[in-house]
Amino acid sequence: MLVSAKEMLNKARDGKYAVGQFNINNLEWTKAILLTAQELNSPVILGVSEGAGKYMCGFNTVVGMTKGMIETLKITVPVALHLDHGTFEGAKACINAGFSSIMFDGSHLPFEENFAKTTALVNTCDVLGLSLEAEVGAIGGEEDGVIGQGECADPDECKKIADLGVTMLAAGIGNIHGKYPANWPGLSFSTLEAIKAKVGDMPLVLHGGTGIPADQIKKAISLGVAKINVNTECQLAFQEATRKYIEEGKDQQGKGFDPRKLLAPGFEAIKATVKEKMELFGSVGKA
Ligand code: 13P
Repeated sequence: MLVSAKEMLNKARDGKYAVGQFNINNLEWTKAILLTAQELNSPVILGVSEGAGKYMCGFNTVVGMTKGMIETLKITVPVALHLDHGTFEGAKACINAGFSSIMFDGSHLPFEENFAKTTALVNTCDVLGLSLEAEVGAIGGEEDGVIGQGECADPDECKKIADLGVTMLAAGIGNIHGKYPANWPGLSFSTLEAIKAKVGDMPLVLHGGTGIPADQIKKAISLGVAKINVNTECQLAFQEATRKYIEEGKDQQGKGFDPRKLLAPGFEAIKATVKEKMELFGSVGKA
């Protein structure tokens, strides 16, 4: 069954660990993440960007595939199916399709517009029992063509959005989507502390989880981060394992061209990456 992310994140905040959001792209990704969560008895959030949703033939297909897998694979750990960086229209489409969790990203809009649209979704999600993530201060890097600069959010704006009653809040603290440049100064913990002081108990979300050093991840969790998003790292792991398989000529041996064989090393690589992250985030055994 798909569940809202509310309970798992409140538990994570209280228990000082974080739940991983792993973005999905296709059947292999979804299956790898669900199986790893079950094996490690960890709650998990499946992230779907609007671009990935389109690629997977729309949000209805994503809901059908995920629910089917949960049933057939006998997944009993809490799973939230979450729209990642949604537009207002995308949020409405995912609500209608049966997602259990929504992110409305109005961080690039004028603050008043972000506030008004987040307000509208708070009420809808509340009535339907869905969790809602809002964002203040764009996360840097590229996500479906949107580029930012590792911005830091304004703590007062964070408080205004948190006070609307969203479930969790993504706030820029110098984090960036994709690989971090060599000269990246690291997360801004002073910004995180200032935001935490304003928003109190609100679980905070750290985007751009790929490549953040383990000590910074642990410190961010100790300062109130309860959800960490990882996407690029699974893509890189899949790419490296697939490249190795082909470069070793395995696709040309026997039935190595069979997609079920060709995609298997990448699938295992995603599982290993998800396991490593769940161990680092501390969510193992917390289902
Ligand atoms: P990365 O691709 O940097 O891991 O970021 C993922 C993310 O934040 C999705 O919202």
